Amino acid sequence: MAELVPLDKLHERDRFDCGSPELNSFIRSTARQHQDKGLSRTSVLVNLEADDPHRILGYFSLTAYQAASEDLPDSLRRKLPRTIPAILLGRLAVDQAFQSQGYGGSLLVEAMRRVAQTASLVGVAGLFVDAKDERAAQFYSHFGFVALRSNPLKLYLPIGTLISFVESDASS
Ligand SMILES: CC(C)(COP(=O)(O)OP(=O)(O)OC[C@H]1O[C@@H](n2cnc3c(N)ncnc32)[C@H](O)[C@@H]1OP(=O)(O)O)[C@@H](O)C(=O)NCCC(=O)NCCS
Repeated sequence: MAELVPLDKLHERDRFDCGSPELNSFIRSTARQHQDKGLSRTSVLVNLEADDPHRILGYFSLTAYQAASEDLPDSLRRKLPRTIPAILLGRLAVDQAFQSQGYGGSLLVEAMRRVAQTASLVGVAGLFVDAKDERAAQFYSHFGFVALRSNPLKLYLPIGTLISFVESDASS
């Protein structure tokens, strides 16, 4: 069964291939450095019962973030200060061998659950994401993210929507 665990040095980072050189490079070369410096936290999906329990099926990384509210769609930015505290889903990817099996959706829901937990302790207005292309943006739109005014590849999920989603997912 697949489990989500913190990235560590035993994980087979060089083997990971999601089809995107930028997202491969992040997990292979950058994620552990960023983790050591406290810049982001990366969680990896592994199958602990498989012959290769250190193989990475997918991953995501989260980081604290500050955003300009003027970038939000009109209906969402009313009465907000100019800058808002948020969390950035810096990267999310699934290895090509495991795509279209529900892992990407599960990773996103787990990332949202962690944002909801964080928001119960620290002010968080929502979750931002940088989609690498139009196809990735459609993946996030599928889960309710809305595009920012300045860039359709930057998307946002308000904290209220995120918490409602997490609560309804937990009760279903
Ligand atoms: C995009 C990506 C993360 C999706 O992961 P996946 O495991 O293949 O997706 P899932 O099988 O979990 O799909 C979950 C849901 O999203 C939908 N979906 C998947 N990709 C989609 C897309 N590009 N556009 C719209 N919906 C999409 C699926 O139909 C599914 O819907 P359902 O739950 O209603 O059945 C994966 O294909 C990937 O890593 N691609 C390369 C890297 C990338 O683009 N990362 C995005 C961050 S920039």
